Amino acid sequence: MATEAFAPAKINLTLHVTGQRADGYHLLDSLVVFCDVGDTLSAAPADRLSLRVDGPMAAGVPDDASNLVMRAARFLDLSRGAAMMLTKRLPVASGIGGGSSDAAAALRALSALWDVPLPSPEETLPLGADVPVCMTPRPQRIRGVGARLCPVPDLPTADLVLVNPRLPVPTPAVFGALTRRDRSPMPEELPRWPDAAALAEWLGTMRNDLEAPAIRVQPAIADVLRVLRAEKPLHAAMSGSGATCYALLPAGQGAGLAETLKAAHPGWWVASGAILRDTG
Ligand code: C5P
Repeated sequence: MATEAFAPAKINLTLHVTGQRADGYHLLDSLVVFCDVGDTLSAAPADRLSLRVDGPMAAGVPDDASNLVMRAARFLDLSRGAAMMLTKRLPVASGIGGGSSDAAAALRALSALWDVPLPSPEETLPLGADVPVCMTPRPQRIRGVGARLCPVPDLPTADLVLVNPRLPVPTPAVFGALTRRDRSPMPEELPRWPDAAALAEWLGTMRNDLEAPAIRVQPAIADVLRVLRAEKPLHAAMSGSGATCYALLPAGQGAGLAETLKAAHPGWWVASGAILRDTG
């Protein structure tokens, strides 16, 4: 029986850079959510391990052992086979964790196919700093390099519109362009936000410390933010190391803004969806 897993986009609503470890990795404090826009990973029984990639964002995505999905499969079980198909809808190197979310989806699909236990989120850190948070696609606060996870259960319903200028931004270059690596964390206790407007107001007092260095690496990010903010969403900021930026809107209003932006900027990648909330 084939299995399938969804790999939703990961959005850093905030991203504070609070320190740097001796090995160069940065210490972060970030509020992460997932959006019901994403890739799909299916896995069918097979003697050997293989990967095919299709979908609107498949161009240039490797289908060999260098793909994080293949590394995730080998991480789960060194010897077993599966025929995997990755349908890419998220842009690569875009700050919304596509590769990490694909790897987490592969672990979920293959653990069901092979009937082997799923590793804990923390155990998946060797696959990449963003893989642990992607193991459980629900609102979470991440600290440390990415493996200290804390669920954020009370997020209000809201839509996100995601916009990427179709320009890949290498994460190491953005971290390298930081001028300060010791900025303040978020408050120890996060507030409870009664609605999307309250969440947006609070987000306005927080930061993505990678926004300024990312704009230096890829100035088009500033244009995306200007266009998004001109539409007067509840809030707009960059996700991760960019270039994707998000607009936060009341639930049900994302699709309308996405259509407006697609018509005005046909060269940009634009998607909208609801924040995936903790229904647990
Ligand atoms: O772990 P991952 O392969 O996703 O990280 C990609 C790059 O991003 C790292 O090589 C590093 O340059 C940077 N990074 C960092 N601190 C983090 C996460 C990523 O410096 N917490």
